[in-house]
Amino acid sequence: MGRFDGRVAIVTGAGSGLGHATARQLASEGAPVACFDIAVDAAEKTAAEIGEHGGVGRAYRVDVSDPDSVAAAMSGAASDLGRPQVIVNSAGIGRFAHTHELPFADWQRILGVNLTGTFLVCQAALPHLMDGGGSIVNIASNAGIKSQPYSIAYCASKAGVVHLTRCLADEYLKRGVRVNCVAPGGMETPLQKAFMEFPEGVDWKAMRKVISPLGNSQPEEIANVVAFIASDACRYMTGSIVSIDGGITV
Ligand SMILES: NC(=O)c1ccc[n+]([C@@H]2O[C@H](COP(=O)([O-])OP(=O)(O)OC[C@H]3O[C@@H](n4cnc5c(N)ncnc54)[C@H](O)[C@@H]3O)[C@@H](O)[C@H]2O)c1
Repeated sequence: MGRFDGRVAIVTGAGSGLGHATARQLASEGAPVACFDIAVDAAEKTAAEIGEHGGVGRAYRVDVSDPDSVAAAMSGAASDLGRPQVIVNSAGIGRFAHTHELPFADWQRILGVNLTGTFLVCQAALPHLMDGGGSIVNIASNAGIKSQPYSIAYCASKAGVVHLTRCLADEYLKRGVRVNCVAPGGMETPLQKAFMEFPEGVDWKAMRKVISPLGNSQPEEIANVVAFIASDACRYMTGSIVSIDGGITV
């Protein structure tokens, strides 16, 4: 018997990196998984892999920053797979730039996907989770806990995800909804490659504090912790911010 037998999970950003690993992990433990991603081909690939391993996966094209897109996908997943009980908000974007050179559109897009997207998915999911029981795990970052240069929008969005998590945990504590947050450090995923483009004149000494001597984690390692937090083993955990970052925020 799996920890998530029959518990429908929604995973955003399921087409790549941590979202992909988390969708695979939850499905391997019995969850029917709705794979939400703006890159629908990638989400379909994840859903197909889940099917090939004997699980149930279904892909949905969703832009998490768009309320209508989120609402349509959430109700579609609920009617296709059943009441969502586990929500993992992993969709995220970012890039390095000097703050004084960051285009306003980039600020808006990064906040729109990382923070507003997390809010919109939580808001659309809550009516399904309340009273019947449910667990939300939001993905923040070490960048939401301590400062990091050249990533003002990313840091602000992730700090927002951290506090949004605490506020939701508080508000829905008595409605049977647990809300927690995982804050990874460097993870080997395509997003990290996007962060490999540094702006001119980088102060490498300032960058060193966000790089762990342990190197990067693999998304599967973080997905394991996400699944643990989402499971009943963490019945008593809500409003927690769990850092898994090779010690860079100690
Ligand atoms: N990789 C790292 O080093 C690292 C470190 C700390 C935190 N994180 C966080 O982990 C989460 C997962 O990142 P990852 O490294 O797996 O990245 P990734 O780029 O591998 O995957 C992100 C996924 O989100 C999807 N996505 C992007 N915009 C979207 C939108 N508007 N709507 C729906 N889906 C969208 C992408 O298509 C992609 O499939 C992110 O929230 C990221 O900020 C990553």
